[in-house]
Order: sequence, then structure tokens, then C-alpha cells
Amino acid sequence: MPTIDETYSARFPTSAVMSEKAKNYFPSGIVHQNRYATPFQVYFDRANGGIKFDLDGHETVDYVGGNGALLQGHAHPEIVAAVASQFAQGSHLGGSTPFEIEWAQALLRLVPSAEQVRFTNSGTETTLLAMRIARAYTGKIKILKFEEHYHGWHEYGVVGAGNSGASVPKPIIDMVVVVRPNIDEVERALKNDPDIACCIVEPTGGHFATYPIQPLPFLQQLREVTAKYGVLLIFDETITGFRVSKGGAAVKYNIDPDMSTFGKIVAGGMPGAALAGKAKYMQMLERSGDPEWDRNVRVGQGGTFNANPPTAKAGIVGLTMIAERPINEMADAMAARLKAGINEAFQRTEVSGFAYGIASMVNFIFGVDPKGEEYFEAPPLTYEEVRDEKSSKAAGFLTKAMLNHGVHVMGGRVCMVSSAHTAPQIDLTIDAFEKSLRDMRAEGLV
Ligand SMILES: Cc1ncc(COP(=O)(O)O)c(C=O)c1O
Repeated sequence: MPTIDETYSARFPTSAVMSEKAKNYFPSGIVHQNRYATPFQVYFDRANGGIKFDLDGHETVDYVGGNGALLQGHAHPEIVAAVASQFAQGSHLGGSTPFEIEWAQALLRLVPSAEQVRFTNSGTETTLLAMRIARAYTGKIKILKFEEHYHGWHEYGVVGAGNSGASVPKPIIDMVVVVRPNIDEVERALKNDPDIACCIVEPTGGHFATYPIQPLPFLQQLREVTAKYGVLLIFDETITGFRVSKGGAAVKYNIDPDMSTFGKIVAGGMPGAALAGKAKYMQMLERSGDPEWDRNVRVGQGGTFNANPPTAKAGIVGLTMIAERPINEMADAMAARLKAGINEAFQRTEVSGFAYGIASMVNFIFGVDPKGEEYFEAPPLTYEEVRDEKSSKAAGFLTKAMLNHGVHVMGGRVCMVSSAHTAPQIDLTIDAFEKSLRDMRAEGLV
């Protein structure tokens, strides 16, 4: 019987050639570090709804979902129409447009904690902007964040979450206080360090909840303790925004953050993002006419493509759809079916591991058995269990094994389910998962 890698190499020959070619142009042959794969990465050229097609013509059920951006699935016809018609009327008007106002209204309708908005082009830019506003408002410089919570690839976003590497200077690393999501650790850090401006959190846990937290009562306690020490609370809802509920994690768990960062879903599948927050903080961006304030206090923000009209239109259509239709409910129902089916597959194959997750995120872990109901939503996994080397290796092979059976999961650790996925696609995925577990067991990977 061929190995997972042998089947993969035989199934995707055009991708193998393309991948070699790409190495001439891109470091590691890739344009996003998470697309790194051995022996090569698969190339796709089109997608629709819950499926996409690779260069060798295979139809693949897709759960990368635009890295979590496509809650409504690929190429939703209403979003496509809105972007295409706007593009034909100008992609950048070099001035203010009514569309940016409509986009902000659509966003604020879903996010009751916020009063004002600024648009950006990525989650990375947005968390950076939030941190700068927090510093300007409080006059303090440090950032409190959680181990393995990812806030984009700027210097403050990567510390304690992957590879801060040689490019992040020591003085910046020293400005970032990293703790585990434990309220006593948070309080100790805030008590000991009067120079902390803000606390930023991925509200369902680091790396799209691969490192899950129990959101309640932790997020409530975080709100209380940050308020007590005069530290701004920033919810990084780049992933959770509009996915874990119509209003994101803050609405789902009834928390009132000072500022929230949105990316991905907020722009309807186009490259766009937004910071939304209380007016008193957002006003750090205002011009007052006082030269001293404008030059030395105010936070400056640029961005050539902020709220460009096609993106704004996609955002308006996407967010309005979420507000007015059962998009979340549809995606959540498909995710529940997927999660249950995968857990049955784990049982049937007697492989140690399980699927968990909130709303339309379905995460996987290997080598740990579920010990109670809570394990299927937000399990009390330790960082050591999530990081376990064997489990991480298994996740790497799961991606390839699943692609061999016509399914693409993100990083072998999560499925981002959309409202466009159908029950037959989910059932095909469950079947592919069971086959993949068997393939992996045959190679001693699980
Ligand atoms: C929680 C979180 N914050 C920020 C970012 C960065 O967003 P972007 O890739 O749009 O810069 C990501 C990206 O996945 C994310 O998951």
C-alpha cells in the first residue's frame, strides 16, 4: 500500500512542478508562511461555495475558507456582483465615499460595544493600530498578551506566538508581557507592572482556538481586572468576529471590550479589516486643529486602500447578510454535524484524539481523549498537550491524508465551516477523516 506522501505525490503532479517553479521566486516557494508543506504545496485555481479545484482537476471540499474569511463560502454570488459592479465604477476614488459610512453602519449594527470605526487592510494593521491608540490614551507603553495568541506579524503581534525570531529587537520583546490565560497570572502582571497600556486577547483561545480557553468566566474576570488597573481591553476578533456569533465573541459572551479588531469576515472575502471601539479611545485619531496635539499626541493612520469601494461593498453585503439571514446558524449546524461525525470516526478507529470547537470552527487534537462534555466545545487542554510533538506531526500528515481523499483542512488542526457547505460535503469529509485516520495509523503516526 502506498504511503500518504506517495499517494500525495502521485495525485498532485502539476502542483509538484508548480512548487519547484515557485522556489525560483519566493522563499520556500510560498507567499504565506502557513502554506509551507513537504514534499510540496498544492495549487488551486478556482472555487465555489464549499469546494475548490486544484490544478490536476480534483474537486476538494475546502475548510481553509480563505483562512477563515469566507463564512458565506467561496464566490458568494451577491458579493461577487457587488464587487464587480463597483470595480467597474472605480476601485479607488481618492476621496471619501458613502460606501465607507454604510460599511461602518453595517459593522456597528452587529457590535454594540463599539461607537466608532477605522478601516485598515489586514488584521495585522488593525491590532497595531489598537495598541498605538491604547498607548497614546494611557501614556503607558507595554502590551499584555497571552502565550500563543497571535495578533498578526508585526513585532508586538508575534512575541510569544510562534517565531519572534531575530527580527524583533530585544527592547520590543521587553515591552510585551506574555502570560498564560489564567486570571491570577494576569492580575499579578498588572499589579507588578504599572506601565501596561492594554491587554489583547484572542477571546476563544490562541491560533483560532487551537489552544482553547473556557471563555467564561475568564473573559468577564479579564474585563474586571483590566478595568481595575486602568488597562484597555482589546478583543482580537479577527477570527471570532461574526463567526462565533453574529456580533463575535463579545456579543456571544456578553463582554464590553474597549476596542475590538476585525479582519477576514468583516470585508466579505476581500482584503480589508476594521478597528471598532469606544469613541473616547478612537478619538485619539482625531485632528483637533491644535498643532501640539495633532503632531505629538494624535495617533496617525494611513493606508492607501482603506475602505476602497469594492472592499467596502463586499463588507456591506457580507455583514448585512449575517445580520439578516441565518448564516451563522447554517454554518454552525454543518459544523456540529462535522464535529459529531469526526468524533465517531475517532471512536470507530480507536485512535486517540477528538474534535472540539465553538460555533463553526472544528478543531482537532491527537493523543488526548475527551473526558467530558466540555471537551467537545472548549476543552481544558494544557499548552503541553496542544504542543505535543507527536500530535503536531500527526496534524501535518492529516492535511496531506485529507487532501488525498478530497478535503482541505487548515494546518491539520481546524476546519473553518461556512454556510455554503452542504450535508453531503460534510458526510464526505467525515468519511475522508476516517480513511485518513486509518492511513495515518498504517504509518504509525497516530
Ligand atoms: C487572531 C488574529 N489576529 C490577527 C491576525 C492577522 O490578520 P492578517 O493575516 O489579516 O494580517 C490573524 C490572522 O490569522 C489572527 O488569526
